[in-house]
Amino acid sequence: MLVQTITPNATYEFAADVRNGLTMPGQKELPSKYLYDEVGSALFEVISHLREYGLTRADERLLRRHAGDIVERLATPVAVAELGSGSGRKTRHILESLCRRQRTAYYPIEISPSALAMCERELSDIDAISILGFEREYLEGLLEVAAQRRSGQHLCVLFLGSTIGNFDRLAGINFLAEVRRILQPGDSLLLGTDLEKSSAQLIAAYDDELGVTAAFNLNLLARINRDLDADFDLAQFEHVAKINHTDRSVEMHLRSMCRQTVDIPAAGLSVQFLEGETIWTESSHKYSPQEIFPMASTAGFRCDVQWIDEEWPFAENLLIAE
Ligand code: AVJ
Repeated sequence: MLVQTITPNATYEFAADVRNGLTMPGQKELPSKYLYDEVGSALFEVISHLREYGLTRADERLLRRHAGDIVERLATPVAVAELGSGSGRKTRHILESLCRRQRTAYYPIEISPSALAMCERELSDIDAISILGFEREYLEGLLEVAAQRRSGQHLCVLFLGSTIGNFDRLAGINFLAEVRRILQPGDSLLLGTDLEKSSAQLIAAYDDELGVTAAFNLNLLARINRDLDADFDLAQFEHVAKINHTDRSVEMHLRSMCRQTVDIPAAGLSVQFLEGETIWTESSHKYSPQEIFPMASTAGFRCDVQWIDEEWPFAENLLIAE
């Protein structure tokens, strides 16, 4: 096993993104990728065990059940790159199945160093695997992986857990097209997509009784306090999950419970909040099974197979680059 982690300094970019998001005219917002620091990644891990949040378990069930079939459909020899590996637990099924057929290079691409470390620890015991982690944004990391490709070697990109749902619909298709541009014909993309379900089920999943999702969301403010020396009073903000019927998404917001001013010295910023004003922190788009096919073709892929979980509406889609 070979593990190589490259760590660029990210605090400056975080400060710039916080500054941009909190000075937006109208709706204030923060990029959802910053939810995943060490604490946030651990909280998401807890969310994935909650009864109300079936997404991660559905994803893992599908991967476990269909790993053999998925691997058989890949053009070989193949290296695997994963966008946003998280803990790596559900990736194990694919990698084990593949490693029974060939030595496999696995490249997790992840901006969270703690998630990357977790995933390397979780998967390093698999026989015939070599792991090389990239602490990078998705497309930057994928470009580096593609540059290491040997001639005749295919690439299979994993984009699991419905992370694509964090993009709005158009940006999601554009992102798939960007991935396609880095790939070659015959390469593949395994895409996990959470499917539409009732509003009640969605609200329960994104505003759980125990308050783990609330903590996960509020941790973004705690992180700004930690990393940028800010003075957010967490008791004066509350977690809100709401359904956006037009966009077919669930939105997470942080609502200011009073009129207040927050200082963020490392971003050179002092921000005013009205009572009831929100910061939009994440959107999670839901899909119909049918819409994946035209999405894939617009982006330059063909959707070869789609597997749907029977317990929690979720689809695993195998896209082949055309
Ligand atoms: C990891 C982006 C798929 O959108 O369901 C979980 C993140 N946010 N609970 C999702 C999340 C609130 C999750 N993704």
